[in-house]
Amino acid sequence: MNSFWSWYITIIVVANILACWWLIRWTAKPRPGEAAQDETTGHVWDENLSEYNKPMPRWWLWMFYISIVFSLIYLILYPGLGRYPGVLNWSAETAYATEREQAETRYAPLFAAYAEREITELATDREAMQTAHRLFGNNCAVCHGADGGGAPGFPSLTNNEWLYGGSPEAIKHSIMHGRQGFMPPMGGVLGERGVDEIATYVYSLNGRSAPDRLVNAGRAKFQQHCAVCHAADGTGNKALGAPNLTTENWVYGGSLEAIRASIRDGRSGDMPGQQALLGEDRVHLLAAYVYSLSAERDTEQE
Ligand code: HEC
Ligand code: HEC
Repeated sequence: MNSFWSWYITIIVVANILACWWLIRWTAKPRPGEAAQDETTGHVWDENLSEYNKPMPRWWLWMFYISIVFSLIYLILYPGLGRYPGVLNWSAETAYATEREQAETRYAPLFAAYAEREITELATDREAMQTAHRLFGNNCAVCHGADGGGAPGFPSLTNNEWLYGGSPEAIKHSIMHGRQGFMPPMGGVLGERGVDEIATYVYSLNGRSAPDRLVNAGRAKFQQHCAVCHAADGTGNKALGAPNLTTENWVYGGSLEAIRASIRDGRSGDMPGQQALLGEDRVHLLAAYVYSLSAERDTEQE
């Protein structure tokens, strides 16, 4: 705020408070020709309804004066007059920073203790997972859904099928450093017909029926253009984050139209790294939480 605006605001605020003071004095003053207090003004309605000239109630006046005094004290203590920071030097920014610091000293030891433990073991600790559930809700649910079930473009974390791998280390790496998937747009190279053929082939990979002619043409082209990333059998490549195309779990959708769009226009999913934002200890706990979400693995263990 430059000094012009600072003064502009200061003058308006002070003038308003003074105006309130003046207004209340002015209205309370008796006027020449006015009926004396507690006498009627001489106006009569409906034959017997007459108007008295009563002063404003004491309590009301006091409230008014008190609020004027309150606002003056407030403006001395807290920022409100342009650039003047107030005697207490309070600011929303420092208040937030102090609160964060207090929370950090309170919770950091808790997360540090969790970080000592193995992810696989931590994943079975109910209390730890309840804390992790809240962390997930605050930091991950916007993209992956409150239950981790995902949304179009945001992979499900519950289906035990992974773009980058489901080992504790791979999950932790995904969360710490983020992941950037890149599927190049191939509409230009393949042409409308090529996209159609390959899309139909991919569509058929998980056992759905599709016209043989298109599937056969698509199979050959898939080997040529796609196998390098998605593997010859379409099961994907975790080093690249290239999804398995042979199951019912799709990141971007498994309809013929969605598959066509993936091939024609490409895809580039971005998982933001959380190291800087949350710190390693919290990420460790979240990795255990994500690890615990895969229902399938849990039933495998039982
Ligand atoms: C801004 C949206 C966004 C947020 C927030 C986000 N993610 Fe992700 N996440 C993604 C996307 C998109 C991918 C897939 C990246 C790709 O396509 O390569 C992903 C991938 C992942 C993966 C790898 C999945 C696999 O199949 O290998 C894990 C694990 C993960 N996220 C966990 C988390 C956790 C835990 C949080 C919270 C701390 C989180 N994500 C926050 C968007 C997000
Ligand atoms: C350079 C490596 C690469 C090549 C070549 C490639 N892909 Fe991909 N593909 C990927 C990656 C990585 C993703 C995931 C993108 C993301 O996470 O945003 C992907 C995503 C997809 C998806 C979306 C899957 C889903 O779950 O929604 C489809 C479908 C697909 N690819 C099909 C193909 C086909 C068909 C070809 C050949 C024409 C092909 N890809 C070529 C790397 C590749």
